[in-house]
Amino acid sequence: MTNRTFTMIKPDAMKNGHAGAILDKIIKSGFRIVALKQTKLTEEKAGEFYAVHKARPFYGELVEFMSSGVIIAAILEKDNAVADFRTLIGATDPSKADEGTIRKLFATSVGENAVHGSDSDENAKIEGDFFFSGLEQF
Ligand code: PPS
Repeated sequence: MTNRTFTMIKPDAMKNGHAGAILDKIIKSGFRIVALKQTKLTEEKAGEFYAVHKARPFYGELVEFMSSGVIIAAILEKDNAVADFRTLIGATDPSKADEGTIRKLFATSVGENAVHGSDSDENAKIEGDFFFSGLEQF
């Protein structure tokens, strides 16, 4: 079934010049870009986005990192989008990610891991709506 996921290209990948290669890989893997923008999260907005991880020890570090530079936010569409995108990006820790995955190719550490991918259809919708109005999601 065709469905949608949400992604961010994180500040490390933006700073390291990997945005073009990552978008190319996403498109060549069969995802349609529904919506896309370059933007920057404030600490407050990053804290809100990652509120579900508030109790975790790395929360402060994650919020600081995600508000440290520009990001690209995008909604993507494909059959089985959420699961297929998680496969494409690989494990959270790039040292454990499969060969050829985006994190294996472009991430530097578990904290600075190049891309975000939604973990469920429900969260994909919540996260997409966090960045894009209804009119932008065509
Ligand atoms: S996941 O994808 O939710 O199953 O991954 P998880 O391991 O639960 O991590 C959730 C997000 O926290 C980030 N993370 C970290 N940031 C900084 N330091 C450490 N040690 C760390 N471990 C995990 C991880 O990149 C996830 O961010 P997103 O943007 O959701 O991928």
